[in-house]
Amino acid sequence: MKDYIERIENCAAFLTDFFGTVPSTAIILGSGLGNLANELTDVKSIAYGEIPGFPVSSVEGHSGILSCGKLDGSPVLVMQGRFHFYEGYDMKTVTFPVRVMSRTGVKHLFLSNAAGGMNPDFSVGDIMVITDHINLFPEHPLRGKNLDMFGTRFPDMGEAYSARLTEKAFAIADEAGIRLQRGVYVGSQGPTYETPAEYRYFRIIGGDAVGMSTVPEVIVARHCGMEVFALSVITDLGLEGVVNKCSHEEVQRAAAAAEPRMSHIIKRLAAYCCRN
Ligand code: HPA
Repeated sequence: MKDYIERIENCAAFLTDFFGTVPSTAIILGSGLGNLANELTDVKSIAYGEIPGFPVSSVEGHSGILSCGKLDGSPVLVMQGRFHFYEGYDMKTVTFPVRVMSRTGVKHLFLSNAAGGMNPDFSVGDIMVITDHINLFPEHPLRGKNLDMFGTRFPDMGEAYSARLTEKAFAIADEAGIRLQRGVYVGSQGPTYETPAEYRYFRIIGGDAVGMSTVPEVIVARHCGMEVFALSVITDLGLEGVVNKCSHEEVQRAAAAAEPRMSHIIKRLAAYCCRN
């Protein structure tokens, strides 16, 4: 554990030195925001492999680059390429970047992901603001000795997702004529998509959408005291009576179609966080 903390501190010091100052808003780009990094101005980037002690990602389409720049004028730290539990990383590695961000002074964390919808009011291509989650990962990211330097042993999860940022996102979407859904995200380990029975079960326990990421990072971000905002793009549906066949290509296609709408909300929200 001493090694782990040392590695976090070293990465944070390295990045603070590399970037100069690190912005207080960070974005973990998942599906639906994959190209946001291309819109940064005054950008400085570094590959994960060049950050001593930082893990390196392996999934196709997740490039592994950390960038600092301005998004429509607002300074942000952008992480392209996250570490999924299904890839075989342990939870300490999955959440390592969030802890590094915390040590560099990040206060607001935005995340995006692709998810399968089981709320019958949802359509493919919808964007859902995550208002809460159900953690079904088989390993908890805070399991083990508590890292007191980050947060308390038993962190509150009563408002894991910021109510004020959710409200602001709806105001932004309203103004731009973007349809937004809200709901509970079920975090499931993957890598299989859901069986019809699993979809039914996730709906019964209170889920609106299911995906394979986000929950571990959010738990650790909240442990560190960050304010969290997360969006899911609904890329497929698992509804009662509908035979659901889902492919990675289909997920990527639906996520790409949602990108302009997702980006608009994130840009405006980053500006809001800069001011407030
Ligand atoms: N299940 C889990 N993860 C996903 C899904 C899904 O249906 N769609 C996109 N990511």
